[in-house]
Amino acid sequence: MKQSDYFLKFKNLSPSIKGYQRANGYTGLKKALTMTPDQIVEKIENAWLLGRGGAGFPTAVKWKTATREAPSYLVCNADEGEPGTFKDRFIMTHSPHMMIEGMIIAAYAVGANKGYIYIRGEYPKIAEQLEKTLQEADDAGFLGENITAGFSFTIDIIKGGGSYVVGDETALLNSLMGNRGIPWSKPPFPSEKGLWDRPTFINNVETLACAALILQYGSDWFRSIGSHHSPGPKLYCLSGKVNNPGIYEAPMGSTVKDLISMAGGVVGTLKAVQIGGTAGPIYTSEALDFHLDFDSMKKRDGIFGSGAVVVMNTDISMAEVLEVAMRFFAEESCGKCFPCRYGTRQLSYMADSIVLGKGKREFLDLMVETADIMRGSSFCPFGKSVEMPVKSILKNFNGELQALIRQKNYIREAL
Ligand SMILES: Cc1cc2nc3c(=O)[nH]c(=O)nc-3n(C[C@H](O)[C@H](O)[C@H](O)COP(=O)(O)O)c2cc1C
Ligand code: SF4
Repeated sequence: MKQSDYFLKFKNLSPSIKGYQRANGYTGLKKALTMTPDQIVEKIENAWLLGRGGAGFPTAVKWKTATREAPSYLVCNADEGEPGTFKDRFIMTHSPHMMIEGMIIAAYAVGANKGYIYIRGEYPKIAEQLEKTLQEADDAGFLGENITAGFSFTIDIIKGGGSYVVGDETALLNSLMGNRGIPWSKPPFPSEKGLWDRPTFINNVETLACAALILQYGSDWFRSIGSHHSPGPKLYCLSGKVNNPGIYEAPMGSTVKDLISMAGGVVGTLKAVQIGGTAGPIYTSEALDFHLDFDSMKKRDGIFGSGAVVVMNTDISMAEVLEVAMRFFAEESCGKCFPCRYGTRQLSYMADSIVLGKGKREFLDLMVETADIMRGSSFCPFGKSVEMPVKSILKNFNGELQALIRQKNYIREAL
């Protein structure tokens, strides 16, 4: 299949409404407005669209729970705090109307009359630009009062304050309501009781962009791309030691090898690959043959997450990778529950000690034990997910860590 056969039709991307409309933009919404909300949900179901925010939850299953009683809300999760992930930024800068079109279609399908874009605070210029995008959509009659009989919808932009955990949907909603940005225990799910106790539907930027494309080009088109259980096109984020880091569009299920080759190949010799974000396992070069989609990665006990692929070469110290990851977890833990608040600090302390040459052999076992406790007792997926990077590094690069601990202890004792 050629690149031009699928997805965003990159050659037609445009931040302006005129450019977007020249490239079929807003035809999906026009079609949607001639359909019933149930028919739209059915179209999304037939496309088997899985949420692109990280968890891969079927979008239609979420939308089907809508009672369509006013007021209901639609939130676009543009928090994008995942290290190595910058696909939503790409959509918002290169084709923001695709996301807006997806939001309006979603709002019509679930009966929401108010929308919010919760955007990462570190994207101030994009937030500013999005105000202009919204104005363009409003001027064209796609937003505002009576878009079609009985359907009005407006969107506000809310800027985040820099917390990673606020990317989690319930923490995000708390933050959006002006509360402390910490998660709540589900149920209630946001679609039952979300913003101000009203039904609230949250989707990622890329998911909403896909919804617009499904309405424009059809469910069969979407299903014809990618793998059977995880269909569609995908924006993969390639970073680290590749020659041309960036966003690469490819079908779901593409292999790591193909993606790295799209990104110009590895700088030097490949050592490790992290898939899915900071919470994903770190593999050796065995990962080259992995197919990247939700289903395939689940079968490997890994995660597909946001579609981030971070490539490391033989210049990289895995002890330092572990230390940076654990520092990230310790700094970003929201502090609500003890296992994560304390566990992330302990892990960070042990990883830091190893890098500084003060590590002990027993730290390696203790780190696994701590990660296990956190998986079993942390309140939200953030604390539970520390297990994958910890265990994979300790399993796949154990020899390197042991050697470092031995070597540094030897030097310290000799001094
Ligand atoms: C710690 C944490 C951080 C998250 N960060 C994001 C994020 O930055 N963007 C996002 O879309 N989803 C993020 N999610 C997933 C959201 O909770 C939610 O599943 C998603 O926005 C739903 O949209 P989707 O169904 O379209 O994927 C995060 C989840 C967790 C637990
Ligand atoms: S697991 Fe961590 S991030 Fe989640 S609620 Fe507990 S302290 Fe907060």
